[in-house]
Amino acid sequence: MNAGEDKIVVIDFGGQYAHLISRRIRELGVKAVVVPYSDVEASDEIRGAKGFILSGGPASVYGDGSPRIDLKKLGEKPILGICYGLQLIAHQLGGRVEKATQREYGRTPIQIVNDSPLFQNLPTSFEVWMSHSDKISALPSSFRQIAQTEYSQYAAIQDENARIFGVQFHPEVSHTQHGKEILGNFIFHICGCGKSWSIEDYAEKVVSDISREVGDGRVLCALSGGVDSTVTAVLVKKAVGDRLTCVFVNHGLLRKGEAEQVLKIYRDQLKLPNLKYVDASERFLSKLKGVKDPEEKRKIIGREFTAVFEEINSQYGPFDYLAQGTLYPDVIESGVSRASASRIKSHHNVGGLPPNLRFKLIEPLRELYKDEVRQLATILGVPDRIAKRHPFPGPGLAVRIIGEVTEEKLRICREASSIVEEELEREGLLDKIWQAFAVVGDDMATGVKGDERSYGHIVIVRAVVSEDAMTADWARLPHSLLDRISRRITNEVEGVTWVAYAISSKPPSTIEPQ
Ligand code: XMP
Repeated sequence: MNAGEDKIVVIDFGGQYAHLISRRIRELGVKAVVVPYSDVEASDEIRGAKGFILSGGPASVYGDGSPRIDLKKLGEKPILGICYGLQLIAHQLGGRVEKATQREYGRTPIQIVNDSPLFQNLPTSFEVWMSHSDKISALPSSFRQIAQTEYSQYAAIQDENARIFGVQFHPEVSHTQHGKEILGNFIFHICGCGKSWSIEDYAEKVVSDISREVGDGRVLCALSGGVDSTVTAVLVKKAVGDRLTCVFVNHGLLRKGEAEQVLKIYRDQLKLPNLKYVDASERFLSKLKGVKDPEEKRKIIGREFTAVFEEINSQYGPFDYLAQGTLYPDVIESGVSRASASRIKSHHNVGGLPPNLRFKLIEPLRELYKDEVRQLATILGVPDRIAKRHPFPGPGLAVRIIGEVTEEKLRICREASSIVEEELEREGLLDKIWQAFAVVGDDMATGVKGDERSYGHIVIVRAVVSEDAMTADWARLPHSLLDRISRRITNEVEGVTWVAYAISSKPPSTIEPQ
């Protein structure tokens, strides 16, 4: 990071939107970091902040053990409280917060009733996104009301002298009209930040840091074919050249044509140094034989990866460093328990550190969000095939095959998924969908092909829209597209008689079936 650049600290009270606030600030061109509320006293990030944003959260400020911080520790810098953050400000500075008799969820008209730098250059009424069940019923004495809604008298408040502001609604979500302008007013006009965050500067700094850190050492990078590990390898290559060794392990659970396609890109386009291809399909698939339990399958794949890694290390090593594509949300753990997708299944990533190998870690993406990594990929010349690819889980098709992984189900899953992707692409929808694929299990159904009855597999098509995979909704695909997908799968994929479409959202379902 450039010395002296302006920074906003988002204090996370366990709300699902804390990272979204930080992403919005970065989109506006200012560096934002997230600090869990419980780390405020200890965190070095607090120093040097130009302002603070207190996030929303699931608790009630008057509840026992609700998350608190000492506002004085923020050193008289401007503060913007959002939802729970607003209520915390009111509660701690002498106002009153209580359960709202009328909750507000979703789009809500708001009226600006007093001048405020927060709403500068905005119309006096517009729509905001609300999601709260508590509200302020009395203001702290130094505050005044700046906006109201039908059921929230204090939908926005300020103490202009102390430069403390609060909004009950969520300016960070896209449904709030003028949300970006409100955040912009706070960071530029109230906090006085200049635009100083750019992905290009970040990448340049990271490359020189890695180069300095690694010196004459050797680095190993495990590639998965995904955008994170690819961008990691490209950055490390820039820093250390051929002291980097790249390994692509094929666990036999990849999509149709995937190994060949990504290897070609790695070799011919990105020219990654010391590229090793390890085809470990047989050993992974034989270890998975007879295993039906989803968690057991994940554990076996994780263990096998560790074993393959150890062999790579003894064959091509020793290596001093392991480069992996850890992202910012994985680095920042909220101090408040959050219904996290990653804790519902034991996630496995190809770049995961084998526990008994003593590498030092290089994580060039640890300050970036996924969409920033995709931008960086494009800047670095990574082809769209990888830069824009849908997320693909480390254990690959094993999580899209219900029950035992067999050759037959792998073939069906591969072929059918490839049809789903092709048809979405043809319709111009592939980039608008978070993930889309086919699922196959052991359920069979009767079909009739020509004059003959046949008995074959049921394929489930899953396509979801999502912002960050924490929540997801099933994609409302046009019926004509679903029809084409179904016809092609039953006609072209041997052994399939029925096609179903998954119409459950997350929660209560997850995105992957296993
Ligand atoms: P779920 O199925 O939990 O998935 O809703 C959320 C997101 O995580 C991906 N996923 C994984 N990614 N290793 C990964 O690297 C894994 O073991 C894994 N399991 C699920 C999933 O594709 C979705 O994007």
